[in-house]
Amino acid sequence: MYSNRKSFAIKLVAVTCVVYLFIHVFTNTAVPVIREMQESGRSLAALENLDIPIADADNFKQIPTGTEAPPQPHPQNNNEDKAESSDSSTTSHIDTVRTEVLNNIKCTDKALESRIQQRGDYWVLYNYIKALKTFRCHESITYTTHADYSFMDNLVPLLERWRGPISIAVHAPGTDFQNTMDSIAYLRDCSSPLVRELVTFHIYFSTKHVPNEVPKPDKVFAEPYNCSLTPPFMNVSSENMYKSQKKLLYPVNVGRNVARETAQTHFFLASDIELYPSPNLIEKFLKMIADNTDPALSKDPKVFPIHIFEVGANQQVPENKTTLLDMLSKGTAIPFHKKLCPGCHTVPKSKEWQTAKETKGLHVFHVGKRTGRFIHWEPIFIGTARDPLYDERLSWEGKMDKMPQGYALCVLDYNFLILDNAFLVHKPGIKIYKKDPRRAMLASKTHQLISKIIFPELKVLYGTRKGCAV
Ligand SMILES: *[C@@H]1O[C@H](CO)[C@@H](O)[C@H](O)[C@H]1NC(C)=O
Ligand SMILES: *[C@@H]1O[C@H](CO)[C@@H](O)[C@H](O)[C@H]1NC(C)=O
Ligand SMILES: *[C@@H]1O[C@H](CO)[C@@H](O)[C@H](O)[C@H]1NC(C)=O
Repeated sequence: MYSNRKSFAIKLVAVTCVVYLFIHVFTNTAVPVIREMQESGRSLAALENLDIPIADADNFKQIPTGTEAPPQPHPQNNNEDKAESSDSSTTSHIDTVRTEVLNNIKCTDKALESRIQQRGDYWVLYNYIKALKTFRCHESITYTTHADYSFMDNLVPLLERWRGPISIAVHAPGTDFQNTMDSIAYLRDCSSPLVRELVTFHIYFSTKHVPNEVPKPDKVFAEPYNCSLTPPFMNVSSENMYKSQKKLLYPVNVGRNVARETAQTHFFLASDIELYPSPNLIEKFLKMIADNTDPALSKDPKVFPIHIFEVGANQQVPENKTTLLDMLSKGTAIPFHKKLCPGCHTVPKSKEWQTAKETKGLHVFHVGKRTGRFIHWEPIFIGTARDPLYDERLSWEGKMDKMPQGYALCVLDYNFLILDNAFLVHKPGIKIYKKDPRRAMLASKTHQLISKIIFPELKVLYGTRKGCAV
């Protein structure tokens, strides 16, 4: 008995040391700290919805999830765009670009229909609040993102730069639901008209935290919002949020996947709401696709990563690369998470990118891989429904939420076509490291989950490739 206890005690000490060491190494090196809310990424496919894109299939018919509203296939050279064509026919130049895009990508239109559906442990109200403007699959790029209501102050600055469709999944458990609805009402009634026009909201919450009342989509905003009231998303303190009171984790990848799967367009930019894109990105990108030159049109699996930067709290977000380069040289802008997790966002040929002057239009600057120095890279990119989704078992608090997707992209031998004149800038304010014991604990659990369960699954499902790691 005594010796059993003694050996138990020794084991306990040993295990504690290992755990301590692990947490120490983990929190101080490999992994990013603080709000990767903004540092999106992709984690791998919701493994339950295993419609994983196949590396060599350039055929866009495989849309992940068979649950979307029935797609409306349209022939490639369709001249009879009646209903929706008024949306895009502002100038003949834009029309020509769109026609060329449609010739170069084969895509399927998707309806914008509200529906309630369970997804793992969550209820999802898909397309709960719909944008007025709808898009055919080749007509634009959708910015897909996730948030809770306390992040909604980003929506208008984001829209002013993006000026295209946004698909956003909002986590709204319990009493956070009403604040979320009020926030959306404020944005639609009292801020920029772009919100009504371009933003589609999806709502989700755990089956254990269903709000007391959920109106039908057509009954949500019965009365106009009182615009004299303070916007409900301003200066929210986390103690007042239901999510914090109940100590819920933020299911970041459920939101990312919901927003992605509901995008109406073939291309989307899966991002975090605090990352604002450089202006005119949509038109420039579609022009590049219309021009149909290699490597952008290569059949090899590919995504289009975008460089990310941070600027000081009192700085303007730069309007173009010329201004950005100027700010970098003055130190008023820095590469994203330079101070938190340089390895996570170091982009291949970034030095060259930062010395290359702005040019006209948009092109592929460099074709990179997620190997070597970039083995833990968590790129944010323009991609399509063929790319692996994110693992919905991972939370924002647990970190590493995009690593499984990064691994899948690597094993599938994706090319990373880094764009030259486009960039993302985080909402002004440079992040610094803050100790957070709860997150450190959750991060260590996540690391266990990934190494013991998820990584072995990925190896079975995708296989292995030299130079790839989670
Ligand atoms: C709107 O809110 C303001 C500020 O609280 C209040 O004074 C006003 O009476 C409200 N208006 C209506 C129509 O409820
Ligand atoms: C929010 O907080 C900031 C900084 O503390 C303050 O300047 C601002 O007035 C507040 N806004 C509202 C609407 O309360
Ligand atoms: C870049 O933006 C700055 C500031 O908005 C503007 O003055 C400048 O003309 C722009 N440069 C180019 C090349 O568009």
